[in-house]
Amino acid sequence: MKLKYIFSLIVFTVLSTKAEKPIYLDLNQPLEDRVEDALSRMTLKEKVNIIHAQSKFCSPGVQRLGIPELWTTDGPHGIRPEVLWDEWEQACWSNDSCVAFPALTCLAATWNPEMSALYGKSIGEEARYRKKSVILGPGVNIYRTPLNGRNFEYMGEDPYLAGEMVVPYIKGVQSNGVAACVKHYALNNQELNRHTTNVIVDDRTLYEIYLPAFKKAVIDGGAWSIMGAYNYYKDQHLCHNQYMLNDILKGEWGFDGAVISDWGGTHNTEEAITNGLDLEFGSWTNGLSNGRSNAYDNYYLADPYLKLIKEGKIGTKELDDKVRRVLRLIFRTEMNPCRPYGSLCSDEHYAAARKIAGEGIVLLKNKGNVLPIRSSMPTRILVVGENALKMMTVGGGSSSLKVQREISPLEGIRNCAGNNCEVRFVRGYVGDVTGEYNGVTTGQNLKDDRSPSELIAEAVREAKGVDYVIFVGGLNKSQHQDCEDSDRAGLELPYAQDDVIEALADANKNLIVVNISGNAVAMPWVKKVPAIVQAWFIGSEAGNAIADVIFGNVNPSGKLPFTFPVKLTDVAAHAVGEYPGLKRVNEDIWDEQYGEGILVGYRWHDTKNISPLFAFGHGLSYTTFAFGKIKSNRNAISGDEKVTFTVPVTNTGDVAGAEVVQLYISDPKCSVMRPAKELKGFAKVFLQPGETKEVSLEIGKDDLSYFDAGKHEWVVEPGEFKALVGSASDNIKSFATFKYN
Ligand code: GLC
Repeated sequence: MKLKYIFSLIVFTVLSTKAEKPIYLDLNQPLEDRVEDALSRMTLKEKVNIIHAQSKFCSPGVQRLGIPELWTTDGPHGIRPEVLWDEWEQACWSNDSCVAFPALTCLAATWNPEMSALYGKSIGEEARYRKKSVILGPGVNIYRTPLNGRNFEYMGEDPYLAGEMVVPYIKGVQSNGVAACVKHYALNNQELNRHTTNVIVDDRTLYEIYLPAFKKAVIDGGAWSIMGAYNYYKDQHLCHNQYMLNDILKGEWGFDGAVISDWGGTHNTEEAITNGLDLEFGSWTNGLSNGRSNAYDNYYLADPYLKLIKEGKIGTKELDDKVRRVLRLIFRTEMNPCRPYGSLCSDEHYAAARKIAGEGIVLLKNKGNVLPIRSSMPTRILVVGENALKMMTVGGGSSSLKVQREISPLEGIRNCAGNNCEVRFVRGYVGDVTGEYNGVTTGQNLKDDRSPSELIAEAVREAKGVDYVIFVGGLNKSQHQDCEDSDRAGLELPYAQDDVIEALADANKNLIVVNISGNAVAMPWVKKVPAIVQAWFIGSEAGNAIADVIFGNVNPSGKLPFTFPVKLTDVAAHAVGEYPGLKRVNEDIWDEQYGEGILVGYRWHDTKNISPLFAFGHGLSYTTFAFGKIKSNRNAISGDEKVTFTVPVTNTGDVAGAEVVQLYISDPKCSVMRPAKELKGFAKVFLQPGETKEVSLEIGKDDLSYFDAGKHEWVVEPGEFKALVGSASDNIKSFATFKYN
């Protein structure tokens, strides 16, 4: 008996040690040990397989080792519907409808990092529930021209605001074990010629304007992946670019995540191997011709790469680095068993969408306090305009969604108006009656064959007999509007909306214009319209959020994340910036000199004294605020010391509201040209009527520095600086001077 027992004990011991969990599967092991262990077990073919796609949106794991596939999904505002294996078309599932959150321009317009954290957590939960491990977003390309078709997906013209607002989004997403994939890195500031534009920009501008938001995303946000852009920089595509990916992203910033190509952004095997690309998606190549599907083994980082290695023309050093980064991404997401399970279309997500939208809507003008409409009295309201009806979650490119619901502005206004109000609707204008993207249709029949003059006549007739007219117009998600892969033709509103607005202004003094767009638009009628609301593309709860503001259930607190110019030639990119670039002779490459340098947006307007239509940081409230004088805790700092500025803000009105205190730094005497002022701090403060709070903002040498391209480092020149505090870039309340020694 004893012998038998001893024998079985030996067998058990041997077996249990044999079955000991491999390090890469042992969750208690450090991440890097797991990566090295998995790498050491992979064959050459498995390593090459894992660094490129096997379908439209997923890349293979290592089946033999139980390392799962990596599933990516668009987009920054909501989780794209499931598509067919190798198609853009949706797969017509019945359980993949989502919540559409506001577009990121609206999130930026909240100037509230807490909203960004709520946004990231919520959208990350939707991605997690849909079993996606990489969200292809957020985008933080700087708003350089109001013609860029994709500005609605980004966070405005200021690198400090975009950087501060992108970090909580990333952390919120990644708290779900889902990777953010910050895009499009970098210099993708227009859609026209997006694959062929070679951006020429000086280093100081690159480091001061176009990189900071990405740098914060990596260093402060800890982004687990980055998406390379389509365009060129220094004649190399951004998806395999020595300077941007190896030198800056992985070198200077120490990025340890994976660089994912934009879909179709990879063009060259050798460059893709050596210039920093880690994961190739969306290439249409079967030997360099476009369009063949299921050509995954022909990807640049597939068989062509394997062939070079087998022929001894290249080693596996780069390959192992790529594989490490992809494994790290998989271990942080797919193989992170501690991650939550997510949720989809929950009440919390709708509430989040509505709250973010309500905080991002910007009250641009409110002469005579036309708004909010008090629906306690019997009120007749006429709503005019196609955008009061038109679904905006379908279209616009890869950020297009299949939503569970989208409340239109008209529905929202009707929901909120209550029984005292009679709400009528007339079309006003006909814009784009289509409504389909990748097989997702709006189901709306917007067809209307009447002429513009008939439509305007009807609107004017109806407008004369009501208490309020709410015109809901702006842009939409069609080509040459707010839409990927095309830019706008001009700053003007399309579909002759200006004529409708002018006619309505003459017909009714209580005209409210609600502009739905992700870009600035020209407003030639601005003096004739008493109330103007910038309502963005705000997703599933659009109508409810707009109505909340119109009827005063929400006191607007949004601030513009980009300048509204009076005319296009007031914009630096069009005044001196060479947009859209100059085509090379005999080459399909457009060189575009960012001649305006660091003077982008308000930096240009302030420094050149060009008055904007509405300024960066502008946004009104239904209450009023008073700023006390700015104070500082010290008059001089040196080295790494910080100075704290405090300013008391009082709600001097009779409703609760929120103000965004903005702190700009000016360096009046410097050996190099510097903008008149630059945003270096902000805080949103919520105040009850009569309440005062002290807002404190800290400034250190990084906030005072400029990038010295010659030295390739940030420099702060000793001397006097100004700290200007205000409620908008064109509304400075007071300033303090201090020294940096
Ligand atoms: C698109 C976009 C990118 C998107 C990707 C996948 O072309 O540029 O933002 O995530 O392809 O749809």
